[in-house]
Amino acid sequence: MMKHILVLTSLASLSSVYAAPSTFPQSAIAGPIGSQCINFLIRAQWLIADCLTGTDSTTRIQSAVWLDNKITNNDGNLEWDPKGQWWLSCYECKLIDGSLNCQCKSHAGRLINTTLSLDEHISVYNGHLLSDINGAPKPPSTSSSYPIPVDFEYAVNGIATCPDSKNSTQDWCKTISPSCENKRTYWHFDEPFWFGGPIHCQILSLNQPDHFQFEVLKWMGEGAWELIAYPDEACKEQPIGRILEAEAGTCRPFQPRVKAITVIPMFNGDPY
Ligand SMILES: *[C@@H]1O[C@H](CO)[C@@H](O)[C@H](O)[C@H]1NC(C)=O
Ligand SMILES: *[C@@H]1O[C@H](CO)[C@@H](O)[C@H](O)[C@H]1NC(C)=O
Repeated sequence: MMKHILVLTSLASLSSVYAAPSTFPQSAIAGPIGSQCINFLIRAQWLIADCLTGTDSTTRIQSAVWLDNKITNNDGNLEWDPKGQWWLSCYECKLIDGSLNCQCKSHAGRLINTTLSLDEHISVYNGHLLSDINGAPKPPSTSSSYPIPVDFEYAVNGIATCPDSKNSTQDWCKTISPSCENKRTYWHFDEPFWFGGPIHCQILSLNQPDHFQFEVLKWMGEGAWELIAYPDEACKEQPIGRILEAEAGTCRPFQPRVKAITVIPMFNGDPY
């Protein structure tokens, strides 16, 4: 079998085999990524590939899965661990078939040649790359018409308050997030909250004990994401709203205030 080797820093061509939204066969059987996918690349710690949908032997969709919250460097060895961030101390990473190969720094500072088989926790389901890190994945029944973003980063901001703060002299959250302007683009360093992948029941706080509560909220970014807003920090209550791609960059008032958020891809991306 031909080996698909890709140096991560190279600008691999994006796939032209982009299938329009289509319905898949009923059963989604987990398949190995090495034999079902082509055009592998890693961008911003997302693994992206064109994988067979199972409809026939040639139809593929491009899909993506975030590795940054799944793979870590443990003393020179690539390992599955939600701590993630392997890329901070690993070099010359390549995808070899379905495996991630890097030279990773050990505690002693030596570079170790280490390989992790991505198939252990990532499989192809009807063309979608999904991980089983959070239990058996639920393969979507269709393919999204939103493209895999070039820039996966998105930011969240709005008008906040921290009424539960111990500090009665100043509402610190209000000074950080005092106003909201309808705008989809943003400057990374101006934003208090930005993310590079999906988040689940995330409380928004900075290097302070105070938790932000948003009375107006928006997400900004190039990609298509769905933000789900919760009125409680445990996300046990019914969501009080969702901000979909069509509303990206729009300041949305919420009542009661938003205390936690979940953000998942609307493109063909693993929600975990
Ligand atoms: C790392 O190990 C793999 C598999 O044993 C080998 O193919 C590759 O050449 C090695 N890479 C380096 C830089 O030594
Ligand atoms: C309250 O916040 C203000 C402004 O940030 C700060 O100067 C003050 O020390 C804080 N007070 C307490 C009790 O933390």
